[in-house]
Amino acid sequence: MDISDEYEIVEKISEGGEGEVFLARYIRTGRMFAMKVQTGDIRNLKNEAKILGAINDRRIPYLIDFAHYEDKDILIMEYVKGMTLKQYVEENKPDAEGAFKLFLKITELFSFLHSGSPGMIYRDIKPENIMITDDSDIKLVDMGAAVMSYGDAFVESGAGSRGYAAPECMNEKRIDASADVYSLGVLLCFMLTGNDPSKPPFAPDVEGAIAACTNEAKRHMIKKCLSTDPSKRYSDASGLLSALKDAENKEYRKSVAEIFEDIRTFLSAFLSVDAVMFILEQTESRVSLLPEYLSVFYKGNTGKTHILILALLMILILMSDAVSEHIGERRNFIISRDINILFTEK
Ligand SMILES: Nc1ncnc2c1ncn2[C@@H]1O[C@H](COP(=O)(O)OP(=O)(O)O)[C@@H](O)[C@H]1O
Ligand SMILES: [Mg+2]
Repeated sequence: MDISDEYEIVEKISEGGEGEVFLARYIRTGRMFAMKVQTGDIRNLKNEAKILGAINDRRIPYLIDFAHYEDKDILIMEYVKGMTLKQYVEENKPDAEGAFKLFLKITELFSFLHSGSPGMIYRDIKPENIMITDDSDIKLVDMGAAVMSYGDAFVESGAGSRGYAAPECMNEKRIDASADVYSLGVLLCFMLTGNDPSKPPFAPDVEGAIAACTNEAKRHMIKKCLSTDPSKRYSDASGLLSALKDAENKEYRKSVAEIFEDIRTFLSAFLSVDAVMFILEQTESRVSLLPEYLSVFYKGNTGKTHILILALLMILILMSDAVSEHIGERRNFIISRDINILFTEK
């Protein structure tokens, strides 16, 4: 079948090293797809089709077809509406919190890819290959360099992208998933600083990234990803993901302590020291759910009114606690229901 009878090119999306990507309309239905036409190494596009066909995940474009037209291999896949992470960072300059939030999603995706059976080593992590969709999700494109891993994989000299590839990728050595971990570290530095490591001096702005981190655990995590010795990094993205979640958790606990401190100050203005202590101790020790709710509510809301609402909320919790004990209902149920009503209606 002649592909030009089936698809109509709408526009060129990109002209990359290995291929050109077009937005194409499937004539029969009018539906849009992405069409990648090989201009470089033919093996890469075949490899890409094979990998796309093997993975079924919403964060990877689904494969439609792998065709041949006028001596060229052509890959047809889901069209991802959105922008590349490169454009996103340059245009939106996310703050550290936004960058880490996005990085968590990216790390989750690579953790999924690394821990499949067989696992996949992507080998070309960089912001041009990650897309942010219009509904703020992430998608990974460009499987050209990816390999299915049965323990280890051999990277030919020059694989990966300069500035992002781990040092061992350039030395014709055997690599494993920790090479992706290195590139994830570089990616995070780019997301935190906006400084592009694919430009001279081809190195991540580690200093800038470290300065943007809000706790020691995050700083340690970046340095560990970027170790030149692969055995000193997280062995794959799952290890990195756990470290990232731990680091976020540490921050969260700190913010809860700050919330309690603010409430203490506020209540002290019109209650005795004993009363303040009583309210704080009772709520802190008896309501395990409280810190979580408070933290969600507190984010970005440091005004006096919010502190007042939180203080009142604590008193309400104590009251519902007493009521629930009195009527013999399970305390936690009443408490979480009350808080839920308060927050969902806000
Ligand atoms: N499925 C897709 N939907 C939308 N845009 C895409 C898609 N695949 C690739 N692109 C765009 O085309 C660019 C180049 O594609 P990529 O597969 O990375 O090619 P190359 O191998 O040349 O790097 C990407 O950076 C992205 O902007
Ligand atoms: Mg690419």
